[in-house]
Amino acid sequence: MTAQRIPATLIPGDGIGPEIMDAALTVLDAVEAPFDWDRQIAGMTALKETGDPLPDATLASIRKTKLALKGPLETPSGGGFRSINVRLREAFKLYANIRPARTLIPGGRYDNIDLVLCRENLEGLYMGYEHFIPIDNDPHAVAIATGVNTRQGAIHILEYAFEYAIKNGRKKVTVVHKANIMKALTGIFLETARDMHEKKYKGRIQFEEVIVDACAMKLVMNPWQFDVLVTTNLFGDILSDEISGLVGGLGMAPGANIGADAAIFEAVHGSAPDIAGKGIANPIALILASAQMLDHVGLHDKADRVRKAVVDTLNVDNIRTGDLGGTANTTVFAAALVSRVKNG
Ligand code: NAI
Repeated sequence: MTAQRIPATLIPGDGIGPEIMDAALTVLDAVEAPFDWDRQIAGMTALKETGDPLPDATLASIRKTKLALKGPLETPSGGGFRSINVRLREAFKLYANIRPARTLIPGGRYDNIDLVLCRENLEGLYMGYEHFIPIDNDPHAVAIATGVNTRQGAIHILEYAFEYAIKNGRKKVTVVHKANIMKALTGIFLETARDMHEKKYKGRIQFEEVIVDACAMKLVMNPWQFDVLVTTNLFGDILSDEISGLVGGLGMAPGANIGADAAIFEAVHGSAPDIAGKGIANPIALILASAQMLDHVGLHDKADRVRKAVVDTLNVDNIRTGDLGGTANTTVFAAALVSRVKNG
């Protein structure tokens, strides 16, 4: 009997994207992941090739497959087009951004880290409701941004976080907020969390609240006090980079964007223009994102094999890329992973 094939969209991305995507694909092939890839483009690559950073064909493909593996996409800072990552999240209502961070190399500054950050992915200050007010000769004399959080948006991500925690045998959910200052914008999130815990999850899982600035400090002082963290969009963006720093940096951090209409898996890091084209990028984040994708379609055994191969390649074979102090380039690292996947 042949295994059922799963259609999925593949977006190699910008900068180091195609290099780390090639590595991820060789590993997925090695575990015989049954994805039938529909290769599409987005970001700067698409802008150059088609004049549109998010072509209709890419959107149509994800609409059809409801599943995608995506490399990092470059977003111009300041002016230029709006983030394609944000547009994809909006287009497919990808309300939950799940970013696990686990120690893969023991003996570092922080050992035995095992945290999961659940970030609200559609609302808050990320909505881009911004404008300038000109005064005299200064067109940018005043800048105004409006954040929007809704009860329904908070319910979606908080419920996902509580259910995720219970399903994965986690002990505690911490809601991170700034309701002491932004009493409405993040107050609604805290209020919804308290209410949901009281009505639905009390006695089933521990619950605590922490203000975002204290959370940032506590993560550095004693990250082991946390387990699953859930927060609004911008705080989640910042804290997930901090958390990736606890486990060796951005090259180790995968992310799943889960929504009502699709799921898109990616590395937390960006297109790393400073090292693009050199073939030295660490592909682990995207490879771990591929493992999250395998979990998402129920292929837990294959996902576990990928994760074990990463740990063994790093710690038993001692093969590592430059950002982790090693000398392997992306291709050499991927080949070592493939051999681990195949030979155990
Ligand atoms: P970045 O994450 O691309 O790079 C930050 C630093 O980490 C750089 O020094 C880079 O060389 C290093 N780095 C990142 N990934 C690495 C890897 N896999 N292996 C080794 N080193 C790695 O962040 P930056 O420079 O702020 O952003 C560059 C571009 O990426 C921007 O256009 C930004 O908008 C975009 N971006 C895209 C994301 C996405 O597609 N999900 C997420 C974050 C940024």
